[in-house]
Amino acid sequence: MTHKNFVPSIYLHLKNEGKVTWKAPSNIALIKYWGKKENQIPANPSVSFTLDACATTTTLSYTKLQKKNGGFSFDLFFEGKPKEDFKPKILTFFTRIEKYMPFLKEYHFKIETENSFPHSSGIASSASGMAVLALCLMSIEKELNPEMDLGFFNQKASFLARLGSGSACRSIEGDVVQWGNHKEIDGSSDLFAIKYPFKVHNVFKKYHDTILLVDKGQKQVSSTVGHNLMNDHPFSKKRFKQAHENLSTLQAVFAKGNLDRFIEIVESEALTLHAMMMTSLPYFILMKPNTLKIIDKIWEFRKTTNTHVCFTLDAGANVHVLYPENEKDIVFQFIKDELVVYCEEQQYICDRIGFGAKQL
Ligand code: DP6
Repeated sequence: MTHKNFVPSIYLHLKNEGKVTWKAPSNIALIKYWGKKENQIPANPSVSFTLDACATTTTLSYTKLQKKNGGFSFDLFFEGKPKEDFKPKILTFFTRIEKYMPFLKEYHFKIETENSFPHSSGIASSASGMAVLALCLMSIEKELNPEMDLGFFNQKASFLARLGSGSACRSIEGDVVQWGNHKEIDGSSDLFAIKYPFKVHNVFKKYHDTILLVDKGQKQVSSTVGHNLMNDHPFSKKRFKQAHENLSTLQAVFAKGNLDRFIEIVESEALTLHAMMMTSLPYFILMKPNTLKIIDKIWEFRKTTNTHVCFTLDAGANVHVLYPENEKDIVFQFIKDELVVYCEEQQYICDRIGFGAKQL
């Protein structure tokens, strides 16, 4: 597949108007995407769990323009109110995908969007937000081309979502998703994500992710800035190689349900991501003191109880606490008793592995 496969042929019958609603989840990377090339091509492959509770719902209404003005025409509402400051991101997205969605300038769009999680939670909504918008646009394209099969629909939705935000391409399907070329994964691509094609042991099927909101503020470093810091980074080559190796190792780990090795890879990936930020120029420490306290507590608890709770981090201070279904009672009690005190306003979100976006 090349990007040319996603350029459609001329549409013959454009509908005058319509409306479509999708809900797309967030995802949490186990092997991290950190570093990218031009056109949203990842510097290394990544793999993620699709989440369930953390999601964005968007309704896209479209009306054919009587007179085209050469630009994109849209209004944006976030939780019922006009939201001007989200507009530049959408404009960049539309500009990047226009070639693949030639009807974009034919319509006026009304985008109404809301998140299931509080806006000021420090949880990035770009993955679910861009994925859901890509899906809405794909539904419009499907109306113009009803023969399109589901495989292509999802693939192109992921392809488009990637152009909005890299990690968004992993938010179309569930439950384990892989993005980026890898020599041992047939069908893997830098252009779109795929469902992880190898065996995944039952122990991962109902995995939990309790997200501890350590810092609900705005991100200290935008992901664009963060990714760019990998360009001249002294350790980037080794890091990109490590991601490939971790993905290879994960294959047997997923198949056998080897939780000890899973924990090692997942925690090492999270700490490596932060190590990259600490050793770039300029350098950043994105963890907060409470992030470290939580990590310490998790390690201590895991050792004393022989459970398989572990953590991962995004490019921020919040902690994703991951644990299998059969340990949920003991681990959740531990979270409530010992970790929630480190959260801002004691806030956390209970999530778990999910099965992908849905049309409503
Ligand atoms: C740390 O997908 O937010 O969450 O492509 O610039 O929008 P852009 O970046 P983004 O980066 C996510 C980085 C990460 C790791 C991951 O999700 O793999």
